[in-house]
Amino acid sequence: MREKRFYINTIGCQMNVHDSERISALMQRCGYRQIPFPEGADLIFLNTCAIREKAEQKVFSFLGRLAALKKRNPDLIIAACGCVAQQEADRIFERTAHVDLVLGTHSYGRLPKIIEEIHRNRRRIVDVDVGESIEEIRTFFSQKTADKAPGVSRFVTIMQGCDNFCAYCVVPFVRGRERSRDPEEIISEIQDLVAAGVREVTLLGQNVNSYGKKEGISSFSELLARINTIEGLERIRFTTSHPKDLSDDLVAAFGRLDKLCRHIHLPVQSGSDRVLSRMHRRYTRAHYIDRVKALRLVCPDISITTDFIVGFPGESEDDFQETLSMMAVVEFDSLFAFKYSDRKGTRAAGLMEKVPESIKTERVKTLFKFQRDVTLKKYRALVGTFQEVLVDGLSKKTQKQTDSSGPEGIQWTGRTLGNKIVNFRVKGGSPFQDVVYPGALVRVHIKQAFANSLVGEAPECRPGRFEEIRRKHSCCIK
Ligand code: SAH
Ligand code: SF4
Ligand code: F3S
Repeated sequence: MREKRFYINTIGCQMNVHDSERISALMQRCGYRQIPFPEGADLIFLNTCAIREKAEQKVFSFLGRLAALKKRNPDLIIAACGCVAQQEADRIFERTAHVDLVLGTHSYGRLPKIIEEIHRNRRRIVDVDVGESIEEIRTFFSQKTADKAPGVSRFVTIMQGCDNFCAYCVVPFVRGRERSRDPEEIISEIQDLVAAGVREVTLLGQNVNSYGKKEGISSFSELLARINTIEGLERIRFTTSHPKDLSDDLVAAFGRLDKLCRHIHLPVQSGSDRVLSRMHRRYTRAHYIDRVKALRLVCPDISITTDFIVGFPGESEDDFQETLSMMAVVEFDSLFAFKYSDRKGTRAAGLMEKVPESIKTERVKTLFKFQRDVTLKKYRALVGTFQEVLVDGLSKKTQKQTDSSGPEGIQWTGRTLGNKIVNFRVKGGSPFQDVVYPGALVRVHIKQAFANSLVGEAPECRPGRFEEIRRKHSCCIK
């Protein structure tokens, strides 16, 4: 019998990306092989996102496109999983008749049983049950995703769900209540990843600051301190932090833990106290600014990025001006901004005073224009400095080149501690050339700044640093 093949397409945040990695590991354990395109697959997964209407539209348009494949191969199994699946359950069948399987965000541990059931008795299945047995949670989380092509940087889920119920947000409805993973399991997962060659981990949770609080297991800063001691691990990142829970302890960790990257993503959403209160964010503009000051006191070059929502119901022109003035006060390194989108079941969906689409569009444009100059200023400030870069691999430019032996040579890409992308070359003829590879830490002299990236040059052989890298990566250097 021909080996069964599956394809997985992921929409949404890192949570979904990470879930997809585990689904993929589980499927391989069930004897399936992953392929990089939907054509020729026996089973297609779409991991869905419900955060804004646009994401949901993307889901239904992809599912719609699969109708042709199903027509050609009626045995093809199409599975919708993730956040839209959790929320819409069997309503998905009404919108797209050719979907066979709907799997919510708590169902993945039951996937081996569900696949078996499909093979035995071909029928449509909807599983959006939020109750998981400890066994099912383990089945899912114990999937080793490090086996193949571990890469330089990986995500590690430390908690699931969210209890905050911000007025605009669908996440608590589709991801359920907040639950923290056992610290021992997290540590052991990271150790396995590091043993497989991973150099950086990003700890994932909707609100990492409240890690372990409910369970009374360990605080987030305690967890960070333990992870910081894992030998071979170079860098730790985390996302996302809620400003109301950003404790002094965590702020202090940026000064204390050498592997903790100097970057925090701290979504603010609005600069207006009136809007923040209507959003149910439970902090004020002054509190946020105070946290930024505390972070910069401990770590002056910390990079601070954020999310804004424009056009939240009732947001006036004055409120929006407060957002712009907040941006001027804080000077974020970079940011995401989204036009408010009504989500079913959320409190904000029931609020009156909806802001017209044209005003949202105008405000988001103004906001990005304002930020462009700030971002560029931040990037330009790094020109002339030396930055420690964790090398991801070859730059896009070099990947496209067919011949890299020219005078330009190879260009590498990586990230600074502050999470800024750096493309760099090694100074011609330098023995340093030998120590650049994915996973290496290289000190790069920054020469140029663009809107979203930096360009630099790795200096000629620097014996001290060379030796340090050689020691750290003796396993990888020939
Ligand atoms: N847990 C994280 C982020 C979750 S969603 C946090 O609390 O920050 C990522 C971002 O999407 C949010 O920060 C918010 O800016 C945006 N977002 C969430 N719901 C939205 C909605 N209904 N409309 C527009 N943007 C939204
Ligand atoms: Fe959504 Fe708020 Fe939870 Fe973030 S903290 S996931 S914005 S409810
Ligand atoms: Fe989207 Fe679900 Fe993440 S709604 S943003 S994929 S938690």
